[in-house]
Amino acid sequence: MRILLTNIKQLCQVEDSLDRRSRVAGADMAHIPCIENAWLLVAKGLIHSYGSMDDMPEMHADETIDAGGRFVLPAWCDSHTHLVFAAPRDQEFVDRIKGLSYEEIARRGGGILNSARRLNETSEEELYEHSLRRLHEVMAQGTGAIEIKSGYGLNTEAELKMLRVIRKLKENAPVPVKASFLAAHAYPVDYKEDKQGYINLIIDEMLPKVAGEGLADYMDVFCEEGFFSVADTERLLEAGWKHGLKPKIHANQLHYSGGVQVGMKHRAVSVDHLECVGDAEIEALKHGDTMPTLLPAAAFFLGIQYQPARRIIDAGLPVCLATDYNPGSCPSGNVPLLLTIACTQLKMTPEEAINAVTLNGAAAMELHQQLGTIATGKKANLIVTRPIPSLAHIPYDFGNNPVEKVIFGGKWG
Ligand code: NIG
Ligand code: FE
Repeated sequence: MRILLTNIKQLCQVEDSLDRRSRVAGADMAHIPCIENAWLLVAKGLIHSYGSMDDMPEMHADETIDAGGRFVLPAWCDSHTHLVFAAPRDQEFVDRIKGLSYEEIARRGGGILNSARRLNETSEEELYEHSLRRLHEVMAQGTGAIEIKSGYGLNTEAELKMLRVIRKLKENAPVPVKASFLAAHAYPVDYKEDKQGYINLIIDEMLPKVAGEGLADYMDVFCEEGFFSVADTERLLEAGWKHGLKPKIHANQLHYSGGVQVGMKHRAVSVDHLECVGDAEIEALKHGDTMPTLLPAAAFFLGIQYQPARRIIDAGLPVCLATDYNPGSCPSGNVPLLLTIACTQLKMTPEEAINAVTLNGAAAMELHQQLGTIATGKKANLIVTRPIPSLAHIPYDFGNNPVEKVIFGGKWG
């Protein structure tokens, strides 16, 4: 199947064929390389070729689409979600409006433990159906690659159940899916008084099974006061590495927890959340390739402080944005809305925000060689927008879906 798009108003995030980027950092984030009035040919699921309408060669296509007035971009790469969950948590939303904090709700047995109770009661089939529906919803908003975590099981059987649901999504979805093992998300009720016992269970029982079945790509830990300490995180990350799972951790969401530094020390692929980031964290981030990943839609929904994106970018570092789609702190996987929050609250420019959720999102899932930019040979996972006047219109027009059509693996989504 060969699809030819012509008269594209702007083809965005194009690569120079000789000098491909693996991420974009600092001042470079302000720039999205584009071709005005462009064509793009998709063949065999891949980006075949592209260029300016001024010198379009003769070519054969099964389908030719006039994309006049529309922008074409690489699909969003959402590198941090908890999309597999059993039930919403609307009551906690109301409790927070009335004054309870996220941490208080968690201490009372709500939050992650609430989701764990519901997940343990839900069958694998039902979980898969809910999750597939959510995945299709975010795909229609332009998400073309996604990472999904376990972490609402909190016992061996239910963690494996979640990871098998993610594997089934991987096998059946038309977009790449990465899986992270996050049993270290909260202490289950039975281990409230035996925290080391739960960590031993993760390391001695769960990890060998998860790795043995090849169910996860990454090892995740919620490194936070009241959850997993820096010392706990170190033990867990070391054990993950022994089983071939690289770290991708929840760091510095609620406190200056040391999560960034421990992530850097253990060569995490990304450290995520980062509401609490100061000079020491920024200095640490300069010494490695770990991707700083910001989740401002969760900060928005919880009403907590935002991540200091400007300071991170102005220090010359890359920034990745992800939704954190989950039933507690961010019941939305809507990337266009995430872009609006990043622009209005974190003061990222539209170009910076789009870089953060395309190339840098791909890098945070180690998918930058296949996705995240328009380059010959990359996977044809693409967004065709509605007719819009500018790239800035995507975050500007908030609450509306800028995506008219998507192409995944060279086929219309
Ligand atoms: O990334 N902070 C920890 N974990 C999730 C939220 C989990 C939940 O509340 O269900 C997050 O925000
Ligand atoms: Fe999260």
